[in-house]
Amino acid sequence: MQVSEQEKIIVLDFGGQYKQLIARRVRENHVFCEILPYTTSIEKIREMAPKGIILTGGPDSVYAPDALTCSAELFSLGIPVLGICYGAQLMAYLLGGTVSHAPASEYGHTEVIVDDGASPLIGNWEKQTSAWMSHTDYIEKVPEGFHITAHTEVCPAAGMEDVSRNLYAVQFHPEVVHTPEGAKLFHNFVFDICGCAGTWKMDSFVESTVKALRREIGSGKVLCALSGGVDSSVCAVLLSKAVGKQLTCVFVDHGLLRKNEGDEVAAVFGPDGPYELNFVRVNAQEYFYRKLAGVTDPEQKRKIIGSEFINVFEKEAKKIGRVDFLAQGTIYPDVVESGIGKGAVIKSHHNVGGLPEHVDFKEIVEPLRMLFKDEVRRVGLELGIPAKLVYRQPFPGPGLGIRIVGEVTAEKVRIVQEADYIYREELQKAGVDTGSGQFFAALSNMRSVGVMGDSRTYDYAVVLRGVITSDFMTAEAAKIPWNVLQTCMNRIINEVRGVNRVLYDLTSKPPGTIEFE
Ligand code: XMP
Repeated sequence: MQVSEQEKIIVLDFGGQYKQLIARRVRENHVFCEILPYTTSIEKIREMAPKGIILTGGPDSVYAPDALTCSAELFSLGIPVLGICYGAQLMAYLLGGTVSHAPASEYGHTEVIVDDGASPLIGNWEKQTSAWMSHTDYIEKVPEGFHITAHTEVCPAAGMEDVSRNLYAVQFHPEVVHTPEGAKLFHNFVFDICGCAGTWKMDSFVESTVKALRREIGSGKVLCALSGGVDSSVCAVLLSKAVGKQLTCVFVDHGLLRKNEGDEVAAVFGPDGPYELNFVRVNAQEYFYRKLAGVTDPEQKRKIIGSEFINVFEKEAKKIGRVDFLAQGTIYPDVVESGIGKGAVIKSHHNVGGLPEHVDFKEIVEPLRMLFKDEVRRVGLELGIPAKLVYRQPFPGPGLGIRIVGEVTAEKVRIVQEADYIYREELQKAGVDTGSGQFFAALSNMRSVGVMGDSRTYDYAVVLRGVITSDFMTAEAAKIPWNVLQTCMNRIINEVRGVNRVLYDLTSKPPGTIEFE
């Protein structure tokens, strides 16, 4: 669905690892930016009428026989083009310059000398600065009409441009934080070179998305699976704003949520809350506990939770009858990770339950598919969703099911919910910054001997986990102050029946994972 008629810059993806960062840097300048596969046709680009085009890096050599390439016509559309790394080499190669294997590779921080103080792209950079490099090929000779704007010890043309044709290229990566002058480059490109006005804002996103959703949905009926997580909540509220009573939101409470969470979600999105969502809460706790009884294998538990979630959702959807649209809270990193062009697939994203097979619907609507997580959060605040929900810690779809090692029972869920609640409450009281990680309690499958009030106990061990991570692919245990951990331990042992030991998990990822199963 076309959600924006804003001025935009497009990024053509040649398999670069930093493509998302490029889009971020442009959007930080309040200009909408979209990543498209390198195969996007010239006609499509013309039709989109972007204010600028950025070519990403990529793993190939431009002169290799099967190298990813594009039409040289791209450079004569009259639209400013910025080539980065592979994109720079491709520009040089397609316009008649020479690209070859560099005498030495450059990786990481590299000293860059700016040669052209009048360059519209990097003229206002420090003359001598550091930039992030990652290349084995280099531009040996720039094409006719171009001149060199920067160099490094290895790279004679670390920057080149032809201002008359609005073509710019840099060998380094201005999009990563390790290039301190990078933000200036994007600002220069977006405003001075592409002439953007910078009007992309979250309120304009809400307004234009609501309009687009109305156009797309017409008088159709929409069904949305609401989990209470930030993505599905923002998606549901946007749809409600657009089509009101035509929307039905189904919230399946599988009994594996954090303490009070089901009620909190119902309070905000239910009939007593401020939104018109036709909110249906399905209390399926007992059903899930029955399905999980006796199951100890982690993968089997995940599969049961996922497939039963779909079953319950489908059963509820059937009551509504035929719907025209199924709404999903897919966000941009999900789209990019699923691969947006050939050669760019990193991993296939899957939502916990996958798509329901037996719900009769015509089309999927994904109003957030162009937004990053922090942008989704800003839209959420703009829509008046409480900050507590908008800034909720990420919570996995299978919920506490993967934080209880071994068989899941109602009793174990109670223990982990209460311990987790105390832990998070104490972290908040102590002002521990949990914003860049995940902090939760899990239940080990271990029972051990203890002594309480002169009596022997034989109870469960709760594990507190706190990790700091930027991408959830790697993580380190958080350094929580000792006194905070001690308070948590005291409270959990005293207040949570069935626990006589509290452990703190020091394991990083790898070798551990963030969750327990
Ligand atoms: P792991 O345990 O693999 O988790 O280190 C990495 C991140 O992914 C979340 N996670 C999930 N999220 N469905 C989800 O929606 C799942 O099945 C799932 N498994 C793990 C986890 O909470 C962490 O943020």
